[in-house]
Amino acid sequence: MPRNKDADGYIKHLKSLNVPYNVNIKGIDFPIEDTDVYPPGKLTEMFIDYIIKEKIIEGKVVADLGCGCYALGIIAAMNGAQMAIGADINSKAIDCAKQVIAREGITNAVVIHGEIASLLPSYSGAVDVILSGPPWDSVTSDTVVGLESDVLERAFYDVDDSLLRGVMCEGRELYKDKSVGKTYITSSQRVLERVEKLCAENEMQFKIVKEEEIELGNPHYILCLSKKEEEKKVEEIIDDHQNVELDLLISSQENVGGNDSSFCCCAIM
Ligand SMILES: C[S@@+](CC[C@H](N)C(=O)[O-])C[C@H]1O[C@@H](n2cnc3c(N)ncnc32)[C@H](O)[C@@H]1O
Repeated sequence: MPRNKDADGYIKHLKSLNVPYNVNIKGIDFPIEDTDVYPPGKLTEMFIDYIIKEKIIEGKVVADLGCGCYALGIIAAMNGAQMAIGADINSKAIDCAKQVIAREGITNAVVIHGEIASLLPSYSGAVDVILSGPPWDSVTSDTVVGLESDVLERAFYDVDDSLLRGVMCEGRELYKDKSVGKTYITSSQRVLERVEKLCAENEMQFKIVKEEEIELGNPHYILCLSKKEEEKKVEEIIDDHQNVELDLLISSQENVGGNDSSFCCCAIM
């Protein structure tokens, strides 16, 4: 995939900013002390609004994978989540997250520096909901020399789809119950194409649960990912249930001579 001009322009802009500066998300200041840190923005806020409004996190143990400064996890922990667990490969973003956790006196959020797999030893089987705001684009490691070591670029370019693959594979090991665990991610139009491909490879499926133009003409999405067989099973159960209702209805109609419409309505309900 070619480099993304918008991403490259934004990387250049972020690297030119004077640090430190604060980014305020939902009333919480996130101190950006290094130009290599991805500052949470409008898409992060849209995601936070959605998970709070739709009660996705209420009483839940939430994992924020590729958490950056951990705005999603921290604000989830402050707004009804039982606990938040986060991980990111950028140690400077993790420093920012730890500062906010300490400053706000948050006791139900932990964050780890590392890939998603680094959460597994302690948190396998502990999580209800996974959240992730993945990098804007993807590149293969053989086409971009040096990018793997540039931590800011890793916020924009998912090298060999390592974050998205991690969310869809190792990430699922975090679930308390893999049959009901849901994963929510943000996505641009370009991420959507990768998600489609990775879902097919990992027998998963996704639904667009929210669409919003973050900037004019630039739609972004929140996707809900789930395992394919599980959804299939639910569909089969619904089908079976409907067949039973239909059988019931037919036999009821036969019993009453097939012309009692009020009885039919009760049977359908
Ligand atoms: C677009 S930023 C989003 C950060 C945060 N979710 C937010 O909304 O501010 C993507 C983040 O994913 C992290 N990342 C990229 N690849 C990763 C990987 N393989 N494992 C863990 N984190 C990764 C980057 O360091 C970056 O902080």
